[in-house]
Amino acid sequence: AVTAADFLPADADLDSLRTAAAACRGCELCDIGSRTVFGEGPTDARLMLVGEQPGDEEDLAGRPFVGPAGRALDAALAEAGVDRAGVHLTNTVKHFYHVERGKRRLHKKPAVRHANACAPWLRAEINLVRPAAIVALGATAAQTLVRRDLRVTESRGQWFATAAGFPVLVANHPSAVLRARDERHSEDLRRGLIDDLATAIQFVS
Ligand code: URA
Ligand code: SF4
Repeated sequence: AVTAADFLPADADLDSLRTAAAACRGCELCDIGSRTVFGEGPTDARLMLVGEQPGDEEDLAGRPFVGPAGRALDAALAEAGVDRAGVHLTNTVKHFYHVERGKRRLHKKPAVRHANACAPWLRAEINLVRPAAIVALGATAAQTLVRRDLRVTESRGQWFATAAGFPVLVANHPSAVLRARDERHSEDLRRGLIDDLATAIQFVS
C-alpha cells in the first residue's frame, strides 16, 4: 500500500521534509484536508509535542495548534513555564480529517490506517530533531508512538519509549479540556496537562 514513506526525501532536513510532505498522497486524507500541516519549531528542540491532527483553523492556516485547541495548549504551556517557540510542535496525522455539515467542517477522529500511513513523517521529524523527550498529547499520538491499546486515562503522566527509544510522556489532549462533561472534569484534565508539560520541560532542562 502507498504510505507517506513513498514521498520521503532521502537526504532530509526539516525544510525538505516539509516541502515533500506538502505533496504527500500517502492516504485518502490528501483529498479531504486542504493542505498538509507539517510540524514547526527549532531542529534542535529538546522537547517535541505531538498532537492528533490539524483542525479547521490549522487546515486554513497551514500551522499546527492555532485554533481553539492551540489556545488551550498555549495557556497550559504558559502555566507550565514552557516557551512554545522553543519546542517542536507537530501532529500524528498531517491532514484535517472531517465531514462537511452545511457550512461547518466537523472533525473526525483519524483511523489507525491514517496514523500508520502518516507515521513516516512523524518518524522522520523525530529522527531529525532527536528530542530529549516527546509529549504525546492524547490517544492518537500515544497509541501511535507507544502502543495501540494504551489508554490516556490510565497512562497520562507516565513515561514510555518509542520503538526507537525516545522517551514519551503521555498527556491529556488540550481538546479534552475543552470538551469535558463538566467544569470539574475540565479542571482535572487541565491540571493534568499542565503538570505533565511541567514534568517534561524539567526532564529536558
Ligand atoms: N488538535 C491537534 O491535535 N492538533 C492541532 O494542530 C490542532 C488541534
Ligand atoms: Fe500523507 Fe499524512 Fe496527509 Fe495521509 S495524512 S496524505 S499520509 S501527509
